[in-house]
Amino acid sequence: MTDLKPARILAVETSCDETACAIIENGRALLSSVVASQMEIHARYGGVFPEVASRQHVLSITPVVEQALSQAHLTLKDIDALAVTQGPGLAGSLVVGMNMAKGLAVGSGLPLIGVNHLEGHLYSAWVHDAAEPAPAEPQFPLMALLVSGGHTELNLMTDHLTYRRLGSTLDDAAGEAFDKVARLLELGYPGGPSVQKAAEEGDPHRFKFPRAWLEGSWDFSFSGLKTSVLYEVRELKKKSTTLPVADLAASFQQAIIDVLFKKTMNAAREFNAREILVAGGVSANRPLRQTFRSQTDFPVHIPPLALCTDNAAMIASAGYHRYALGHVSDLNIDIQPTWPLS
Ligand code: KG4
Ligand code: ZN
Repeated sequence: MTDLKPARILAVETSCDETACAIIENGRALLSSVVASQMEIHARYGGVFPEVASRQHVLSITPVVEQALSQAHLTLKDIDALAVTQGPGLAGSLVVGMNMAKGLAVGSGLPLIGVNHLEGHLYSAWVHDAAEPAPAEPQFPLMALLVSGGHTELNLMTDHLTYRRLGSTLDDAAGEAFDKVARLLELGYPGGPSVQKAAEEGDPHRFKFPRAWLEGSWDFSFSGLKTSVLYEVRELKKKSTTLPVADLAASFQQAIIDVLFKKTMNAAREFNAREILVAGGVSANRPLRQTFRSQTDFPVHIPPLALCTDNAAMIASAGYHRYALGHVSDLNIDIQPTWPLS
């Protein structure tokens, strides 16, 4: 990145159940990234308990920010700007990060940049460990598939911060489908990793679950697939007390991957994309990563595993690109619990 001004950004992310802070240089080189996960606390509820999440953020946020600075051997004096997740997310969680970032901005006089969490997920593909050589930078026009717990979107990215949303899910997000099917198969929380693990031993072709192609549209739908797994489970339970969990998980996972992969490929060709980007929690899924890496000639950018699920490095990278292009927020910015990318 030669044409954007150099800067060090410290970012705070608290949109859901991870309290995170990271410092990044020039939008790509990661100096430190701290993520305090609340996963174990929420596992007992089978999902994120919003009130518990916000209280936990309050406890974690100060030590997490201090740790990010100390890991990078920096103080706030070495930072050029602050970034914070403004939304979308849980209101009670977002407000904790926002208040911390505003406090830091007032105390230090540094500019503050509000970042869309979904934009952050896309920018996770720009981030690399500062100690390693920089991998090739994603090239526009990019076909960007965003697959998280709350969103499934296909965006054509024609330049930095420039998105054309082609389609999104009409019902469940891909991650949400993983989480619901995990509950159905009694695989525990969080659903994505537990379905992936169960599927390792399974036959992905045993059950012919439906693929909602939604011809003529770039939208997605996963609720029919989830219902189909539910009906199959009910039928199987009538016949036997033991469920073929591995085959069910593998067949479900394959149906999701088929739809995500083929629709992204078709969109990339249709809109003359140069490269493909896959990001968000579901991009941590190993067979999905393998499919995108091995079954297309397009250059594909998928963030390293630690940056697929929620983190602050991605917010710092998106924040850098906003800062470098002159987008600084007013100190009165408020959280935006629902805030579509485009
Ligand atoms: O991006 P993320 O951390 O949070 C949101 O912004 O929503 O995504 C979380 C989602 C969850 O639904 C989780 O089950 C899913 O990502 N996920 C996975 C895997 N790891 C996390 N889904 C499939 N396979 C995985 N390995
Ligand atoms: Zn996320």
